[in-house]
Amino acid sequence: MCGIVGYIGKRDAYPVLIKGLHRLEYRGYDSAGVALISEDKELHVYKTKGKVANLEQMVSQHDVSGTVGIAHTRWATHGEPNDVNAHPHYSQSESLALIHNGIIENYMLLKQVLLDNGYTFRSCTDTEVLVQFIEYVKKTNKVDLRHAVQIALREVIGAYAIAVVERGNPDQIIAARKSSPLVVGIGKDEFFLASDATPIIEYTDQVVYIKDEEIAVIRRDEPLRIINLHDIEKTPEIHTLEMSLSQLEKGGYPHFMLKEINEQPQTIVDCIRGRINVEGTDVILSGVLDNRERFLNAQRIIIVACGTSWHAALIGEHLIEDLCRIPVEVEYASEFRYRNPVIRPDDIVIAISQSGETADTLAAVELAREHGAFIYGICNVIGSSIARATDTGSYIHVGPEIGVASTKAFTGQVTVLSMLALTIAKYRQTIAPEYYRELIGELSSVPEKMRRVLEQDAQIRDLSKIFTYAHNFIYLGRGYNYPAALEGALKLKEISYIHAEGYPAAEMKHGPIALIDTEMPVVAIATTDSIYEKTISNIQEIKARKGRVIAIVTEGDTIVRNLADYCIEVPRMVENFAPLVSAIPLQLLAYYIAVNKGANVDQPRNLAKSVTVE
Ligand code: M6R
Repeated sequence: MCGIVGYIGKRDAYPVLIKGLHRLEYRGYDSAGVALISEDKELHVYKTKGKVANLEQMVSQHDVSGTVGIAHTRWATHGEPNDVNAHPHYSQSESLALIHNGIIENYMLLKQVLLDNGYTFRSCTDTEVLVQFIEYVKKTNKVDLRHAVQIALREVIGAYAIAVVERGNPDQIIAARKSSPLVVGIGKDEFFLASDATPIIEYTDQVVYIKDEEIAVIRRDEPLRIINLHDIEKTPEIHTLEMSLSQLEKGGYPHFMLKEINEQPQTIVDCIRGRINVEGTDVILSGVLDNRERFLNAQRIIIVACGTSWHAALIGEHLIEDLCRIPVEVEYASEFRYRNPVIRPDDIVIAISQSGETADTLAAVELAREHGAFIYGICNVIGSSIARATDTGSYIHVGPEIGVASTKAFTGQVTVLSMLALTIAKYRQTIAPEYYRELIGELSSVPEKMRRVLEQDAQIRDLSKIFTYAHNFIYLGRGYNYPAALEGALKLKEISYIHAEGYPAAEMKHGPIALIDTEMPVVAIATTDSIYEKTISNIQEIKARKGRVIAIVTEGDTIVRNLADYCIEVPRMVENFAPLVSAIPLQLLAYYIAVNKGANVDQPRNLAKSVTVE
């Protein structure tokens, strides 16, 4: 949540910062702001409620000169989204300006110290407390800004990625992090700073990921220095980015979400490349291969995740229990971390996260580590905090996902979980060799089958028009398709603001069936599988109560077609991987309903892509 950007070098800072904010807007869009130091060493702060475009409009009449600056796009935590609570925040004397991503948990305590010393506050934010506190420490200890930040942060409890600039000093940005991401880009005679690499890739592919409790001293015409809170200097570890600029653009699509839905046939190819052999007979997931004994001896697997990644985890549970015969528990990371769970050293904990920055999932990983479990990460963002905090893992390699609603990351996660289950099953000999090869063949056929589903785009768009103004939706599925139903419901609610619930189809008769009437659209995933007949009975129960059924069926299906009001066909797929194709029409349906309603599909209200607060 919240995106931060910084620049120091020979270019005008403002255009670099604004472009960077646009790239980071997926992280929050409640307000935006910028702080610049002009030629005459004056510090100018401009900020406003709303999106980056509002900020651009606002500053058009102001001095935006200067070759050093910091900027912020906010997802509100402390204090409502308004101009005053927007970042950057000034210190009392207005000589410092600071931007922040995270939460300062002990800000009330620090604020009291400052109030007792005559400080006053303009905003309701924890961030303003931090910048005031840094100034207080600087004055009382008579130290420079770097030392003041260092001393102040030793007193701070919570999560932060911060950047601070100082009036009169156009040659320096001080930045620091703990539990919120921060990357420094190293160009020729210039430095970039950002919450992730997307604002940086246009200028340089050389980056340093700042680690917890490290301070980056970024000075014009000097090498980058990394010093930790305890004054130990570290050698910056320089990494080369793999991402390309075109991946960050819409490529002719009206929204990132639609682009990302359509990318899935290719992202699955990228995900399985080098992991399924060219003959299509074997899967090699190096994270499992290198830790074969761990997986052979595992007594239990616990999967922790949030949101869409949690839905992928539920599919992982089916796959691993079904193919590998290892008991699996799936946990919401936010619950797991606070409920004193039993974690044993012979447990394997799998953490799934697209961003690799979700605060609850990261905390669950840390808890698992404290208990000595072996931790496997399934992330998308390379070099992200969770990817680095785990013992090993597999990237899903689906490229940057910009739309707040997760689409290609979901299918990438399910694909990695499928390969993981197949690899473990082979080592544990819980799968017959012929069936193993058959499943690999099925998995390899996913991209082509996804393509066929995507060809029905126009039909799904037409269907969406019938349901644009529905107030509620129910999504039903059984077995592997139950998590797909949950995911379909989440997609609809988060981008179209229509209330939607996912349910196991057979659970309807235990209560929710009371909701069914002519006004209730029911999306039933009824593809051909081992419980197809049971699902048909559940659809009949809905129809008997006059519910309107939109069914996702296997190509050539006639039985459900005769029952349902509307049908969308997907290619035949073995049930283990069914969600990989059944997810696509649900993504498109949610997308078009949201577009029909005029909703901001890529940046839905109240949400952010990367949830770095708990
Ligand atoms: O980055 P993560 O996968 O850890 O994110 C978890 C959830 O915040 C995320 O999946 C969220 O539910 C999506 N907006 C759903 O589309």
